[in-house]
Amino acid sequence: MIEILSPAELAHARTSGALVADILQELRARTTVGTNLLEIDGWAKELILAAGAESCYVDYAPSFGRGPFGHYVCTAVNDAVLHGMPHDEALADGDLLTLDLAVLRHGIAADSAISFTVGASQPAANTALIHTTEQALAAGISAAGPGARLGDISAAIGTVLRAAGYAINTEFGGHGIGSTMHQDPHVPNTGRAGRGYRLRPGLLLALEPWVMADTAELVVDPDGWTLRSATGARAAHSEHTIAITQDGAEILTLPR
Ligand code: MF3
Ligand code: CO
Repeated sequence: MIEILSPAELAHARTSGALVADILQELRARTTVGTNLLEIDGWAKELILAAGAESCYVDYAPSFGRGPFGHYVCTAVNDAVLHGMPHDEALADGDLLTLDLAVLRHGIAADSAISFTVGASQPAANTALIHTTEQALAAGISAAGPGARLGDISAAIGTVLRAAGYAINTEFGGHGIGSTMHQDPHVPNTGRAGRGYRLRPGLLLALEPWVMADTAELVVDPDGWTLRSATGARAAHSEHTIAITQDGAEILTLPR
């Protein structure tokens, strides 16, 4: 089922989105060389609960994971890209880290992910991946608006990823979001313009392009959650929750 939010629900979506953006920026600011992934998870828990919000992750037990996730943020390092389960690992200079966070507040969820380099060095291999997912996300958002079709978003994202030379994995992509984190419709990271569901005001979508440097194949860690590139190559992921409005698309998880 595809949810269409009322104006009152959209107001809650804005505050949920702002909270997710604030927490991600705070986690990023606190993260330095030597930070342990479990510390980041602890900070995420504190910040979510202090805001009177709920984690969309801690009790989440979908078919693509193993049992409840049990953590508050996804932490994916280097070759890990999606659903990175926080574990006892200290970050090193030059690590490529993705933080992915979703919370529920006043009954409405918001979901966002950022990728960045830890420490002072900026390895070119990281910045190319990160830049591409950010550009693809921007292109997907530009293609969204009332009357546009789902395929317009997918095509815009896929065009940017492919032009940068990346192969696209369609097992995981964006999704509808609203009273729960994962809803219809699925938003693949490649597709055909002019096809698919017609977007309308009140629809919330999480768009999330991700790429791995030299492969489209994923492998899963023994934890049953963390997805890595099959080749060990690095990967990046960028995600925003957007609302379709009368005038276009509004990004709800933009940092202030
Ligand atoms: N927020 C992720 C997404 O972008 C889903 C994470 S599920 C979790 O859709 F259980 F791993 F947290
Ligand atoms: Co998402």
